[in-house]
Amino acid sequence: MQEKQKNKATSNNPIGIFDSGFGGLTVMSAINKALPLENLIYFGDSAHVPYGAKSKNAIIKFSKKIVSFLIKNRVKMIVVACNTASALALSVLQKTFKSPVIGVIEPGSKAAVSASKNKKIGVIGTDGTINSKSYPKEINKISKSDVYQQSCPLFVPLVEEGWVEGEIADSIVKKYVEPLLSKNIDTLILGCTHYPFLRKTLEKNLGKGVILVDSAKATAQEVKNVLKQKSLLASGKNKGFLKFYVSDNPEKFQAIGNRFFSKRVSRVKKIEMD
Ligand code: DGL
Repeated sequence: MQEKQKNKATSNNPIGIFDSGFGGLTVMSAINKALPLENLIYFGDSAHVPYGAKSKNAIIKFSKKIVSFLIKNRVKMIVVACNTASALALSVLQKTFKSPVIGVIEPGSKAAVSASKNKKIGVIGTDGTINSKSYPKEINKISKSDVYQQSCPLFVPLVEEGWVEGEIADSIVKKYVEPLLSKNIDTLILGCTHYPFLRKTLEKNLGKGVILVDSAKATAQEVKNVLKQKSLLASGKNKGFLKFYVSDNPEKFQAIGNRFFSKRVSRVKKIEMD
């Protein structure tokens, strides 16, 4: 059943963005760059991070609570800035809530299909994203392709530790991408919001022939398309404010968040979700 929203969204209402933690800030950054007038509210579910190895039911439960919180804050649309939550909860969220809800998998898949020439596409992501097969399904809806997947559970802790280059990052990246290289892929989707930080090490290990696609830019474009279509793009009255909420440890979010976001992450507020 759809949740009722009392007041109709207007163009100057904010956009709600959420992720399990910091990673979605890369998507928020891209939205802020593409649509600087839009007010943005970010929610990082730091009490439940990581989502990558959690069950579908748990991800749906967390995601519904977060979207309800964002809707109480009068957002006009929701961006699921997390691949795992997009893979496991997006369709439920779209059925439950009236506001437009978009994820990162469809925009990322479209970008990969248009980048690939030989239609051999690799996907790396968390266990949840890879096991859901969301990317192969989405890619093949757009264009028939061979899709090769690899889950990379060690990448998220590596990025959060800041070990994105050097000996350790190199050997872990090599181990994960080797099976994909033997498939002759020409495009690789970075199917997790943390992975763009490993871009350099991935490029080094994949060589020049493989194009890396991260969904942040493509998702920001999709946000623009949806708002335009619904006549909800912010007008000049908006100042483009940025607000940050988390479910635990705002200090840590602020400290690490500044590595993930192009602007300063400040005044992070903790919200009790349980
Ligand atoms: N944000 C998650 C994703 O994009 C990665 C971090 C996590 O496992 O929670 O899949």
